[in-house]
Amino acid sequence: MSAPPLLEHMRGLIRAAGPLSIERYMEIALWHPAWGYYATHRPVGARGDFITAPEISQVFGELIGLWLADAWQRLGAPDPVVLCELGPGNGTLMADLLRAAAVVPPFRRAIRVHLVEASAALREAQGRVLAAATPAWHDSVATLPPGPLLLVANEFLDALPIRQFERGPDGWRERRIGLDAGGALTLVGDSAPTSESLPDWPVGSVVERRPTARMLARDLGRRLATQGGAALFVDYGYFPPAPGDTLQAVARHRGHDPLRDPGTADLTAHVDFADFAAAATAAGVRAWGPVTQARFLAALGIDIRARRLAAGKDAAEQATIESGCRRLLDETQMGTLFKALALTGGAASPPAGFD
Ligand SMILES: C[S@@+](CC[C@H](N)C(=O)[O-])C[C@H]1O[C@@H](n2cnc3c(N)ncnc32)[C@H](O)[C@@H]1O
Repeated sequence: MSAPPLLEHMRGLIRAAGPLSIERYMEIALWHPAWGYYATHRPVGARGDFITAPEISQVFGELIGLWLADAWQRLGAPDPVVLCELGPGNGTLMADLLRAAAVVPPFRRAIRVHLVEASAALREAQGRVLAAATPAWHDSVATLPPGPLLLVANEFLDALPIRQFERGPDGWRERRIGLDAGGALTLVGDSAPTSESLPDWPVGSVVERRPTARMLARDLGRRLATQGGAALFVDYGYFPPAPGDTLQAVARHRGHDPLRDPGTADLTAHVDFADFAAAATAAGVRAWGPVTQARFLAALGIDIRARRLAAGKDAAEQATIESGCRRLLDETQMGTLFKALALTGGAASPPAGFD
């Protein structure tokens, strides 16, 4: 049987130019225009490969809508205001937060919706769900219109590709993906140590770096510092910095070997919140948190919102609302692993949920 085309393509690249960095491997596996994961799969939802907080409970997006309304008021209620979401998936979070934003009508009227999305199929899905909000799409934050900015991103950073380094007795070497004698993809270390400046973890440690997240933090930091605004990132990851190999693949809601059948599974890695915050603060903004998702949602009043939503519903609907919120908050599920980090330009007091 012949190998799947993306695997064959990668073998060709490795034979021609040597092992791929993990960053390049992730880019190709996720974004190859014909055979990459995003070109060939529906990622998010019960019928997709994984489920995210907005797809678990509408309460998540509604609370973020209220967080944004509060941030907008702190900015002096600018009209218009750019509201941008990075990686909106099915459009569920934006739809839920816009519904909640409508409780502050001047805020809702001021909002101009902008979406940063790389997948053509997901842009189409977002266009269907968010048609009434007339969104504009972008490839990156660089093309957003100027002015005060409100930005939200859930499970976006984890999808950006990482580099990995392993500490040997003589220094850190980049880990790459090469081929074993049978032509299977396998991890290999560089022959020479890297010139990257990396922390002093013990020999045998693995450390991860995410260059595109650092660039985003820098660009967003500069913009928020000069034009004002606030950004909220919710993602899974670690704080403080820690060594470890966190590259993972998921298909059909189950773990998958990240080096097996590239293009058939979503590839992500944990977010290093301290590294992201440091790149943003170096560009001139303040970073708040991270705080755990459980603490953030509790501070925003998830209990009250869930009770209101459940009032008058039948027992089955009430149980669904209750179990959805539990999944977001429970420390064995998403409550602790997921964290919220905010960036604000110029604000001296913490945004809601970060006191
Ligand atoms: C894990 S999904 C999260 C979807 C949604 N935020 C949610 O919570 O359900 C990642 C999203 O980011 C988008 N994405 C990933 N990498 C991207 C990139 N480099 N540029 C733009 N969009 C990207 C994906 O297409 C997808 O919409």
